Amino acid sequence: MKKILVTRNLLPENEERVKKLFDAKLNKADNILSAEELINQSKDCDGILCIGGNKFDKAIIDQLSSSVKIIANYAVGYNNVDVDAAKQKGIVVTNTPEVLTDATADISILLLLGASRRAYEGRKHAETQSWNWSTNFLMGKQMSNKKLGILGMGRIGRAVAQRARGFGMEIHYHNRSKLSPDLELGATYHDNIKSLFSQSDFLSINCPATAETTNLLNEETINFLPDKAVVANAARGDIIDDAAMIKAMKSGKIFALGLDVYNGEPKINEEYLQLDNLFLLPHLGSSTKRTRIDMGDRAIDNLETFFSGKTPLDKVN
Ligand code: DGY
Repeated sequence: MKKILVTRNLLPENEERVKKLFDAKLNKADNILSAEELINQSKDCDGILCIGGNKFDKAIIDQLSSSVKIIANYAVGYNNVDVDAAKQKGIVVTNTPEVLTDATADISILLLLGASRRAYEGRKHAETQSWNWSTNFLMGKQMSNKKLGILGMGRIGRAVAQRARGFGMEIHYHNRSKLSPDLELGATYHDNIKSLFSQSDFLSINCPATAETTNLLNEETINFLPDKAVVANAARGDIIDDAAMIKAMKSGKIFALGLDVYNGEPKINEEYLQLDNLFLLPHLGSSTKRTRIDMGDRAIDNLETFFSGKTPLDKVN
């Protein structure tokens, strides 16, 4: 039986399966293992099932035991793993696409709505039980019939577009390449950020975190957006330059921001927390029971396929 280090608790349905198929080394403390712990605890393992919060940079990968042949990441994003270093060491890396598309697209819409309709301030007022309704009380920005820019028109971006069409929004997008008409479904392609941002009353970030997308929203590019734009990020924190965004939120250039992901999470730039025009969630993108079970199954499927001698469906390197 192959031995697998499982770095965090899985839901019981997944844990039962992983224990049936493998000699599973569980981390019942359910803490984030340090680099040293990842290396030591996987010493006698054939594979690792990890989460996005486990960092596998080149230094760690180089120190992994040669017995480790696969890192099955329990997330669609795999920026936590240096896939090139893994490849060099002969380690296959897999992710869990598709199964979290709907849950994450829902959260993108929640962020857009929560930010634009001032849900955070609203909750604070409601808690006082003494707010004074007036015709100009906490007026938000309405999404209906506005332009939505989608940065990254992969599965999740397209699922956001599908939902936004229900609000009568006009969809614009930027992607590495233009989509075919059956995937575009009438959305307008922009081959550069400036062109997309200039049309985006609302902007939803749904692209992967890569060297090219790091700080893609920065002092220069935020200024391409129309004044009082609303931005939502359900992808990865590093896509936004926080200092530039905070400045734009303070000046009113950005009407409101919705965040589910953060640079260095769970830490959040303290300055964000002083701002009322921020609607924030603690990385809940994929957090529904069905989705989390499906993510676990997908990661376990990838391990099973790999150890049966075949190429896992979700190999990324
Ligand atoms: C992912 O799958 O990349 C999500 O961010 C995890 O919740």
